[in-house]
Amino acid sequence: MIFDFLTNKKQSRTFAPLVTDMHCHLLPGVDDGSSNMQETIECLKALASVGFQKVFLTPHFQANYPNVEEDIQKRFDALKKQITSLNDNALPEVVAVSGEYRFDPRFARRPGIDNVLPLPGKKLLCEFSLHYNDYMPIDIFSEYIKLGYTLILAHPERYPYLGIHSDEIVKMKEIGIKFQINVLSLNGFYGESAQRKGFEYIESGMVEYLGTDTHNMRYANALKETANNKSVQKIMKSHTFLNDKL
Ligand SMILES: [Fe+2]
Repeated sequence: MIFDFLTNKKQSRTFAPLVTDMHCHLLPGVDDGSSNMQETIECLKALASVGFQKVFLTPHFQANYPNVEEDIQKRFDALKKQITSLNDNALPEVVAVSGEYRFDPRFARRPGIDNVLPLPGKKLLCEFSLHYNDYMPIDIFSEYIKLGYTLILAHPERYPYLGIHSDEIVKMKEIGIKFQINVLSLNGFYGESAQRKGFEYIESGMVEYLGTDTHNMRYANALKETANNKSVQKIMKSHTFLNDKL
């Protein structure tokens, strides 16, 4: 507890220029994210403490977590009511619920047919499996783009089979896919490779968004540590991202 107190005392609002976190798993009891309301509230307060004023929740839509959009929306509406009733100004504004949509051989929402929950402006947060390296749904992505969606690839730095010069990465940039790096990657939370690639992508000007991908208190505590990382603070001063336009 004393350690927590000291950590909080040094808390830096490093991510304030972003205004908005557009990637986290804080719908209580859903997927592998926050397990209950108390954890959700603590994680949201951690987001506010490092500078985020607004938050979009993005539960998983994938084979392992077969969430249904209508149910997720109802759960969010109930959460929003509870948060509003708390009237706690240490909490950020929880704006809306969207999703992190998996595209892999076991799961893919079909463009124009399946219901999806995009971020404002028809922006859809997408991810791949960390393991399948022979599946690249460029054709499906192109169909979404034709329908007016902007696709945002979550954490490109985390896929071990993709690097900054991979053909697939080049192709995705060619067709207009935006990239979102996890800020925790920059502090080594997912290992050395994701950390190195995270900085590489940002310094190459290929990254439009940053996200926290907060799942629980372990992530929230790592986020506070990341906010105090000098290299991360430097990146936040030297680069501009589009989170505040969401
Ligand atoms: Fe995520």
